Amino acid sequence: MNVLLIGSGGRENALAWKISQSPMLEKFYAITGNPGIAEFAECIENISIEDNSAVVKFAQENKIDLVVVGPEVPLVNGLVDELKKAGIKSFGPNKTAAQLEGSKIFAKQLMKKYKIPTANFEVFDNPEAAKKYIESQGAPIVIKADGLAAGKGVIVAQNLPEALNAVDEMKNFGSAGNKIVVEEFMEGEEASILAFTDGKTIVPMISAQDHKRVFDNDEGENTGGMGTYAPAPVVTENVYTKVTEQILKPILDALNAEKILYQGCLYAGLMIKDGKPKVVEFNCRFGDPETQVVLPLLESDLLEIMLACAEGNLADKKISWSKNSAICVVLASGGYPKSYKKNLPIEGIKKAESLGATVFHAGTKISGNEVLTAGGRVLGVTVTEKNIPAAIEKVYKCVEVINFENMHYRKDIAAKALKWL
Ligand code: AMP
Ligand code: GLY
Repeated sequence: MNVLLIGSGGRENALAWKISQSPMLEKFYAITGNPGIAEFAECIENISIEDNSAVVKFAQENKIDLVVVGPEVPLVNGLVDELKKAGIKSFGPNKTAAQLEGSKIFAKQLMKKYKIPTANFEVFDNPEAAKKYIESQGAPIVIKADGLAAGKGVIVAQNLPEALNAVDEMKNFGSAGNKIVVEEFMEGEEASILAFTDGKTIVPMISAQDHKRVFDNDEGENTGGMGTYAPAPVVTENVYTKVTEQILKPILDALNAEKILYQGCLYAGLMIKDGKPKVVEFNCRFGDPETQVVLPLLESDLLEIMLACAEGNLADKKISWSKNSAICVVLASGGYPKSYKKNLPIEGIKKAESLGATVFHAGTKISGNEVLTAGGRVLGVTVTEKNIPAAIEKVYKCVEVINFENMHYRKDIAAKALKWL
């Protein structure tokens, strides 16, 4: 089977690593890829992932059997719809289904209509009306831009002035911020459950927990994600069952009732309080860096599962998971998530690998025979061990042998899991 992977981050490096283990794989390409992905796939750098017709043309010319779409932007842009018109299968939802991530209002209204547990909310297109409502509700309160805002369109306001200011800041998100959602603040512990679906059957993957804030103890600004671990013990067996029965199956039924076919990965961001899960958000793709810990625990053939999702026969597949635990620590550029220097030489990747880590590239480039930094999140260092404490010890041993100027990372990834053990 010939496969084309869309994307260039740490998530896509993990997808490439796992797909490459499939005996079904023949030719493997990535648009645009990165130096980590280049170990497994031929990287095509002169096509933009936002240029649907160029991607379709490449897929046709190279007899691609399955396109695996990593990031949300091409999904929301309708890449899968264009590929389908050309008779090419994809792993990933079509444009309408991708609205589950592309429009917070769409997602919230669908959840409300079908009684899927989530925070109460109101929608506004008039900033003054939003402010009046916020004043009537008080803080803490959450303000969200409707459209895609590269993970930055959510402000969790701790007090009223911050909340009112957040309404004005929504203008900075362009058309994504024309409409806003004001949402009840939910307390609890967060977790992510990704699921495979072919539109009829939905199979949850192993649970994971992200660390969104830049500094230890969840301090500082929100980022794309500073590290993850899986499974997340806050997702007890009971919570996992509730997520499946009260959230995942109902959202798939809701989509079907609305005549929307959703195929691919459906990501549920959850808040769990007293054993009760509620939805924080849905994403229409694999999480980054959740993928970097979930896939290393998948024992089945990922490519076979992805093809089953695209062909509508997921119910026939047996999907099995390792009993181990995995941790991914993200190594970021100094300054991230604000501005940072690029083109700094990275040392120690091979050494970390020799100690047993899998090092996923997120923002790197090759220059001569050097690997340089090229993004905010630079590398993801993943280890798999028999349990969380053993994985914590090992991952930080591996992290310590890697270095670049101003490198920073959280020292408390997976610490939240320890209270459950
Ligand atoms: P989102 O982009 O919707 O995942 O929001 C980003 C982060 O904001 C989430 O991971 C949560 O930490 C936080 N957040 C979003 N909505 C809420 C809410 N209603 N209550 C509490 N925290 C929230
Ligand atoms: N790790 C959060 C996300 O992928 O949206």
